[in-house]
Amino acid sequence: MTRPEILIEIPKPDDFHIHLRQGAELQQYTHDVARSFRRVLAMPNTLPPLKTPEDLRDYRAQITKAAGVIGLFEEFTPLLTFKLGSDVPATSVAALKKAGAVAGKLYPQGATTNSEDGVQDLGEMYPLIEAMEAEDLVLCIHGEDPTAFSLNREAAFLPKVAQLVQDFPRLRIVMEHITTSDAVTALNSFPDRVGATITLHHLLNNLDDLIGGFLNPHLFCKPVLKAPNHQQALVAAVLQGHPKIFFGSDSAPHAVDQKECAVGCAGVYTAPVALPLLAEFFRAGDFLQGLEPFICHRGADFYGLPRAGSLASDPQVALVAEPWTVPARYGRVVSYAAGSTVPYRVETREVQK
Ligand code: DOR
Ligand code: ZN
Repeated sequence: MTRPEILIEIPKPDDFHIHLRQGAELQQYTHDVARSFRRVLAMPNTLPPLKTPEDLRDYRAQITKAAGVIGLFEEFTPLLTFKLGSDVPATSVAALKKAGAVAGKLYPQGATTNSEDGVQDLGEMYPLIEAMEAEDLVLCIHGEDPTAFSLNREAAFLPKVAQLVQDFPRLRIVMEHITTSDAVTALNSFPDRVGATITLHHLLNNLDDLIGGFLNPHLFCKPVLKAPNHQQALVAAVLQGHPKIFFGSDSAPHAVDQKECAVGCAGVYTAPVALPLLAEFFRAGDFLQGLEPFICHRGADFYGLPRAGSLASDPQVALVAEPWTVPARYGRVVSYAAGSTVPYRVETREVQK
C-alpha cells in the first residue's frame, strides 16, 4: 500500500478570532477547533458577556478543562478578550490583563450576535481605550455601522477606525473579519500597529453563494458576504502575503434550528474544516508557502507572542491527502461545507518532550 501524500506540514497554527460560546456546547466547540489549532483568541460575546477579571479566569478554566477531555490540556491555549462597555471601568484594565486578556473587543451596538449591550457612543469608551493603550492591550474592532445599509456598513465605519488610530497614537488595533476592498485600502493607509483578520468564508465565498440561488442560511454572517470584486480584493491581499493581515476564522456556531428558521442567526461554523480548506485555498492559489505566515507567524507577531513552532515541543500538523466527507452535523450545528468532500485530513504529529 502506498502512503498518502502530505501536502504540507506546519506548526499547529493560531486562529485569532473564534466563538467558543458558553455552557454545555463549549466543550464540543473547543474540541472541534483544538483538533486543528493550538492557540485561539476567544471572543467575549457570550451570554453573559466576558467583562471582568473573574469572568476571564472562569472562562479560561472552562476551556482548558474542555480541552483536557481530549488530551489537549497542556497544549491548547485560549487567549482571552473582554467586551468593551460603559460597565467596564478603566481601572479594571490592568486586572483584566493579569487575568489573561490580550485584547478588548469593541462591538457597535446591534451590529451582530449578542451586541445589544454594545457601544453606541465611542467617545464614552475613551477612558477605557486609553487604559488599554497604557497597558498595551489590543483593541479588536467589529467594524460595522449598523445604521448604514447592510452592504455598506463596513465602509461606513472606516472613518471611526481612522479616528481611533489618530486619537490613540500607540494603540494596537485589529480590524476584525474585513470584507471589502475599502477596508484593505484603509488598512494600507494606517501605521503598522493596525492589523486585520480575514475569515475563510470571506475568502471562498461572495454574496451570490448566500442569496444568488436558493438561500443558504449557513453562509449568513456579519459582516455579510460581499460582491465578487470585494472578495477578489481579499483573495489578492492574502495571496500576496499582505504583511498586516492574518487568520481569524470568526467561526461562530449556532444550533441548526437557529439557522434554518424565519429569524436566522448570523454566523458560519468553519472550525472543523478551516485548516484543510485554507491549505487548499493557498495550494490552488499557487502560494502554499504563504499558508504558514498567514496562520502561524503574522498574528503571533502582531500580538507579541512566540510564533507557533518556536519551541521544539510545539506540535506540528500535517495535511494528508486523504479526501473525507464533512459530517452533516457537528452536534447541533451544521458546519461549513457539510456533506462535501475536503481533500486533506489534519493529522497532529508527535510532540517531542
Ligand atoms: O456572523 C457573525 N457571528 N459575526 C459576528 O460578528 C458574531 C458572530 C456570532 O457570535 O455569532
Ligand atoms: Zn466574531
